[in-house]
Amino acid sequence: MRATIQNSRRQFVKVLAYGGVASVTGGQLFEQKIHADVGVEFISNPGKLRVRRDDFPALNTLNGSVRIGVNPLRSNHQPNGTFHPILINRLENDELIALSAECTHASCAVRTYNDQAGAHICPCHGSRFGIDGARLSGPAPFALDRYPISLRENGIIEIEVPRLGFTVNGCIEKTESHSLLKLEFPARRSLTYQVVKKEGITESWTPALFSRDPSSEAEQNELQGDDTITSIYVPHEHGNGFYGVEIKYQLL
Ligand code: FES
Repeated sequence: MRATIQNSRRQFVKVLAYGGVASVTGGQLFEQKIHADVGVEFISNPGKLRVRRDDFPALNTLNGSVRIGVNPLRSNHQPNGTFHPILINRLENDELIALSAECTHASCAVRTYNDQAGAHICPCHGSRFGIDGARLSGPAPFALDRYPISLRENGIIEIEVPRLGFTVNGCIEKTESHSLLKLEFPARRSLTYQVVKKEGITESWTPALFSRDPSSEAEQNELQGDDTITSIYVPHEHGNGFYGVEIKYQLL
């Protein structure tokens, strides 16, 4: 049986990866790598995709399969942006495996595992891959790439995705009337970013409004990357808090 999930994009917009987090305490700025495992080199560093297993009921079934991504797919099955979707498959003994959905023939995105067909099928020229990514048939010359995956506390699945890591730099900018936290990071094309904040280290992240211009009101809650170093400004009235930048993902 093919396991599928029907849900809206909105429901599956979750935290993907934190950049370096700027901590502001008592009016002084400290740059801290709270999530030190993410992002020191934009080009080569893997980012850690963290998703909640409970969000994917398909993974409760043997041979269940989900496909998630940060770049949308075009009608020709290629991603609009740098990143191909990521496949998470459920194997025997409750084991999970993470694969790149990039077909090794001509880079189309292969579909989720089809249990009846016994394969991931590429929609472009019909290559087939096993649930573990092994090449079965078709013009594709190699298996699908495999990513390190682990199960963390509280049912969080963590997957290392090449080149997804990024660094956020922060500094305080003062105007005549108020002070702002400026966050700067490399925003990749067609990825959607949002800023998150929490007052204390043990609290939960919540979205924070920001502006692109220091003289404007903070009214924006997300932005689309365009392959530039991007600066955003967050009001900094209380003098305390932790800030992060997240990438959104969706089921594809
Ligand atoms: S791109 Fe997948 S078979 Fe050609």
